[in-house]
Amino acid sequence: MTEEKIAVVTGASRGIGRAIACRLASAGATVVLNYNGSAEKAQAVQAEIEAAGGRAQAVQCNVSDYAACETFFQGVIETYGRIDILVNNAGITRDGLLARMTEEDFDRVIEVNLKGTFHCLRFAARQMIRQRGGRIINLASVSGVAGNAGQVNYAASKAGVIGMTKSAARELASRGVTVNAIAPGFIETDMTGALSDAVKEAAVRQIPLGRFGKPEEIAAMAAFLASEEAGYITGQVFQVDGGMVM
Ligand code: NAI
Repeated sequence: MTEEKIAVVTGASRGIGRAIACRLASAGATVVLNYNGSAEKAQAVQAEIEAAGGRAQAVQCNVSDYAACETFFQGVIETYGRIDILVNNAGITRDGLLARMTEEDFDRVIEVNLKGTFHCLRFAARQMIRQRGGRIINLASVSGVAGNAGQVNYAASKAGVIGMTKSAARELASRGVTVNAIAPGFIETDMTGALSDAVKEAAVRQIPLGRFGKPEEIAAMAAFLASEEAGYITGQVFQVDGGMVM
């Protein structure tokens, strides 16, 4: 990766977002670490990247807020002049069986996972079109590919992210912008840490490779898709799931 690349990673204060940010920074990119509420954690990631000789800046923005996203991306462009890589990673779960799922649980997951991805995609794509180049990577999920009991809201949001990825890939290809999605299976983060031991054991039994993945294993795929070598790949969904969904 060339030295001057500017990357934006949403939800970069922990988990998969943190791992992707660290990996892109170690490849030479300057990384804008977006966070919503966790200022201290985001600043710790910034310090970790800087201590390793990289460049990063933690910047607050709630991705579900359209106007806040517009201001956030204006700020990134004013500061750095360009955006080469966008990783739409921020996401939440509000799991529950359909009959018990509240409207609020449904709306909140759609607002962050689906609308948040749309907001960032829109503002970053405008800049990438001007530059005639860029890489966009959206975090989907195997739940959005195969469905998952207890995740009607989350699976709908992630299936939506997959449709958005393919549509944006078609729109932006002629401008040199690629758009791809990564669909992780079960990855060891705070998100899956909240699951009960019984659920985790049942999940591992469905995974041919016999374990949860690590955030770094998603980051490796993201770094590849952000690299020059991935220039002929767009509109694709890459499952990184230990073989869980085939
Ligand atoms: P996590 O819960 O550890 O981290 C999510 C990050 O998003 C946090 O830093 C959080 O502060 C941030 N965030 C949440 N709402 C936000 C908002 N409105 N604005 C800005 N940032 C916000 O989750 P994890 O596991 O690292 O997941 C990252 C992505 O990968 C998510 O999109 C998730 O849906 C997806 N994913 C995760 C899987 C897993 O097993 N951990 C499996 C499949 C997909």
